[in-house]
Amino acid sequence: MPTKLIIDTDPGVDDAFAIALAALADDVELLGVTSVYGNVPLSATTINARRVLALCGRHDVPVAAGAERPLVHRHPNEARYVHGADGLSGRSHALPEPTRDLDERDAVTLLADLLDAADEPVTIAPIGPLTNIATLLAAHPRLAGKIARIVIMGGALGHGNSTAAAEFNIWSDPEAAHRVLAGGQAPCVLVPMDLTYRCAVDAVWMTELAGSGPIGAALDALTPDYREHYRGALGWDGMVLHDAVAVAEAIRPGTLQTERLPVQVECGFGPGRGATHADRRLPALRASSAEPDAAPEIDVAVDTDLDGLRAQLLSALRVNSRVPGEDPLRTL
Ligand code: RIB
Ligand code: CA
Repeated sequence: MPTKLIIDTDPGVDDAFAIALAALADDVELLGVTSVYGNVPLSATTINARRVLALCGRHDVPVAAGAERPLVHRHPNEARYVHGADGLSGRSHALPEPTRDLDERDAVTLLADLLDAADEPVTIAPIGPLTNIATLLAAHPRLAGKIARIVIMGGALGHGNSTAAAEFNIWSDPEAAHRVLAGGQAPCVLVPMDLTYRCAVDAVWMTELAGSGPIGAALDALTPDYREHYRGALGWDGMVLHDAVAVAEAIRPGTLQTERLPVQVECGFGPGRGATHADRRLPALRASSAEPDAAPEIDVAVDTDLDGLRAQLLSALRVNSRVPGEDPLRTL
C-alpha cells in the first residue's frame, strides 16, 4: 500500500529535493504540503513549495500556509546564508508558476482535515521548525491516533549547525520541538544531522542528476548557494540533503536504522538552547535513575546504507516526467 504522507516544510533547497522525492514517487500518496517559516520567511517558503510541486506536475496536491513565527519566542535567525535570499539560490522564479491556488485553509486546519478524512493512519514528515506540528497536536489531540508516524528531520546527537549545540529546525522553535518529541502523542522518528551529514552527495552525484532530465536539471539549478555553503561546511565539494534523507525514511520505513532513545530538548536560554539530549545510557541504568518527567523513548536514526541511499535518491529524482508543455527552467 502506498504511504499516505503530508510534508511540513520550509523550502529551502534540501526541502525542494525532499518534496520532489515524494511528489515523483509511485509508492506515496502525497495528501498535502504545509509550509512554515524557517530557512526564509513564510511567504517565500510557501511559494517555493508550490513551485516545486508545479515542477513535478503535482497540481493535485494542496498547499496550505502555516506559522510565520515560533510558538513563544522570536525566531533567532533564518538561513538565507545557506539557501540564498529566496530560499532556492535566487532561482525560485525560474521554476514553473503553480496553477493551483494556495489552499484557503491554514496549515493546521489542512493537516487536521486530511487526518480526519484518512481511511488509514497518515505519516507526517516535518522538515522545518516544528511549530505547525506542535500546534496540531495541542489543538487536535483526538487526531493523534490517525498519525502513523511523525518522521522529523532535526536535532543533533553531537554538535549542531546553527549553534555549537543545536540543529536549525529544533533551534528555531525548541518549545515546539519538545512538545512533539517528548509529548508521547504519536510515534516519532528523529533524523538528526549526525546521520544526514554522513549521507552527503558529491559532485559526481550532482552532475548525474543535472544530466538526468528536466526535473533533475531544474533541481540542480536551485543549488549554487547551497553547494557553496556546504563546500565550506564539509570541506569538500558536496551537499547535505538533510530533508531528503528524512523523507526517504518517511516513504519507506526501515530505510534508516534507528535506536529507541528518550530525547529532551533544551528550552533554556543558555548556549545549549535547542540542543537535543538523547539519553544513550543502557535501559537498566535509565530505569534505575528515571526522573519523574523522563521523556518517552522515540526512534532516533543512527545509520543507513550510505551508498545505497545516495543511489536510491538519484534514481528517484532522475525522472523525465514534468509539467506538460512547461519548461521547468523558464529563462530569466
Ligand atoms: O539543519 C538542517 C535543516 O534546517 C534542514 O531542514 C534545512 O532545510 C534547514 O531547514
Ligand atoms: Ca528544511
